[in-house]
Amino acid sequence: MLDLDDTTITTAVLDAIADTADPRLREIMSAVVRHAHDLVREVGLREEEWAAAVDFLTRTGQLCSPRRQEFILLSDVLGITMLVDALQNRRTFGGSENSVLGPFFREDRPEFASGADLAPDRSGIRLQVRGQVVNHRGVPVAGARVDVWHSDADGHYDSDIPGIEGSAMRGLLVTDVDGVFTFRSVAPGAYPIPGDGTVGELMRGLERPLMRPAHIHVRIVADGFAPVTTMLFRDDDPHLDADPVFGTKKSLLARFVPTVDDEGEFERVEHRFVLEPVTTDSGEGDGRR
Ligand SMILES: [Fe+2]
Repeated sequence: MLDLDDTTITTAVLDAIADTADPRLREIMSAVVRHAHDLVREVGLREEEWAAAVDFLTRTGQLCSPRRQEFILLSDVLGITMLVDALQNRRTFGGSENSVLGPFFREDRPEFASGADLAPDRSGIRLQVRGQVVNHRGVPVAGARVDVWHSDADGHYDSDIPGIEGSAMRGLLVTDVDGVFTFRSVAPGAYPIPGDGTVGELMRGLERPLMRPAHIHVRIVADGFAPVTTMLFRDDDPHLDADPVFGTKKSLLARFVPTVDDEGEFERVEHRFVLEPVTTDSGEGDGRR
């Protein structure tokens, strides 16, 4: 029989899963046990603290629904989402870097012709965006499918704005022979991550801000290339230094250039997106995706 104490229990648990047939499951669960036991030892976790942690995770699960995913938000604010992405999606040919997908992407978005206005009825600073999609050698990628979605000037996505039928500030565009897509909209504003759940509780306890810097989400899919899920961040946003989900990167900063033409004032954004070829374990590249 087992006769364990705090010096022998970790080895006993590892022994109990050592014969797991699935090698990846064995590897991951062994690491979970080692790190979790180390955590308990390191901080001298008390019974009431473990009970509080179980209660926190229980309530986090209870908040989840088809419209809300508090666990993904928890992963985001702990930096796990971006760490997994960084390890899984290394760019070896200078390709555009990823950022978090976030909770506001929708499959039921309309497709637009290049140059369309995605937010004709929204108020705010008018915006013109021109993107070019190229491969790692700088050759334009025609026919790439480009999803864009962003908030309005007040930081609200269409799904959170009462009275919007269908969608706004989102759409699917396809690049032309020069790899170019363009659209018009309104300039997005900064917004807070949801603060009314367990993650908000945690963030207040840690005295961390909830505000995300203003950004435009972009997802690019093209045959033969690794998909890119990323964002363009307004480069003068005051929240860039403390993005609560750690999604900012220097390469994803974009200048919103104040411009005037016959129709009045607007802001202009240009960005070049670089796609990397799909790699396999036996093909070129690092074989990690
Ligand atoms: Fe967003």
